[in-house]
Amino acid sequence: MVSRARLPIGMFDSGLGGLTVARAVIDLLPHEDLIYFADSARCPYGPRSRREVRRFALQIMDLLVAEGVKMLVIACNAASSAALAEARHRYDVPVISVIEPGARAAVAATRNRRIGVIGTRLTIDSGSYEDAVAATRANVSLFSAACPAFVDFVERGDTASDELIAVAEDYLAPLKRAGIDTLILGCTHYPLLSGVIRYVMGEDVVLISSAEATANEVFVKLKHDGMLTPYTGAATHRFISSGSEDMFSELGRRFLGPEFTKVEERPWDLG
Ligand code: DGL
Repeated sequence: MVSRARLPIGMFDSGLGGLTVARAVIDLLPHEDLIYFADSARCPYGPRSRREVRRFALQIMDLLVAEGVKMLVIACNAASSAALAEARHRYDVPVISVIEPGARAAVAATRNRRIGVIGTRLTIDSGSYEDAVAATRANVSLFSAACPAFVDFVERGDTASDELIAVAEDYLAPLKRAGIDTLILGCTHYPLLSGVIRYVMGEDVVLISSAEATANEVFVKLKHDGMLTPYTGAATHRFISSGSEDMFSELGRRFLGPEFTKVEERPWDLG
């Protein structure tokens, strides 16, 4: 029987965004095997209802658990907002979300105690960042803005066009006016737009990508539970997509780097 520590980490997102988290996890834990599921056929999640996204997220986590994983990482803010609490009840493996680590990192970084958060409509409307920041008990103000079009730009591979900059200026203007000094990228696609977001916000605003903070949480949890893989050579990284392989492969390589291997297509009945 395979020892549990040798099982892969299961991770998912609606599409490419969670690769920012995968990158950070691979950097910290290069010996860990990984299964990454991209629900490309049903991306984006942001405009959907919480109920629907919760159903999708549980369906994917059921699949990952059936594959045999030692930990689940919800590398998607929208899915974390919709399904985290239920997932922690439903599975007997630890479930890590991107929201709590990102909120804690922002609270630690702010100097003027004015924090911004941007995300998809679902994440912003869910108030999950308000809850996560409140849980830190820090005396800070949180200003939020939904940026619904950003995910589509990333999924098209557009991370720097004039059209994107114009959209970003529009979305981010209220946060600039609010005088924030720290901005949480509350969608795992957004670190791929860091260039544009920094260009619009200015260099004095600290951008918080939850990818590194989440990877750190994965490290600490596996270490604490005695579940780090003993080093035995190169790790295996699997990529599964519910959509077509073509687009995901091309952009996957660009966004993740050399660890990106071939994509297994796993279409399902989208009912
Ligand atoms: N990357 C996801 C997130 O962190 C969702 C993007 C989407 O599908 O709308 O929220």
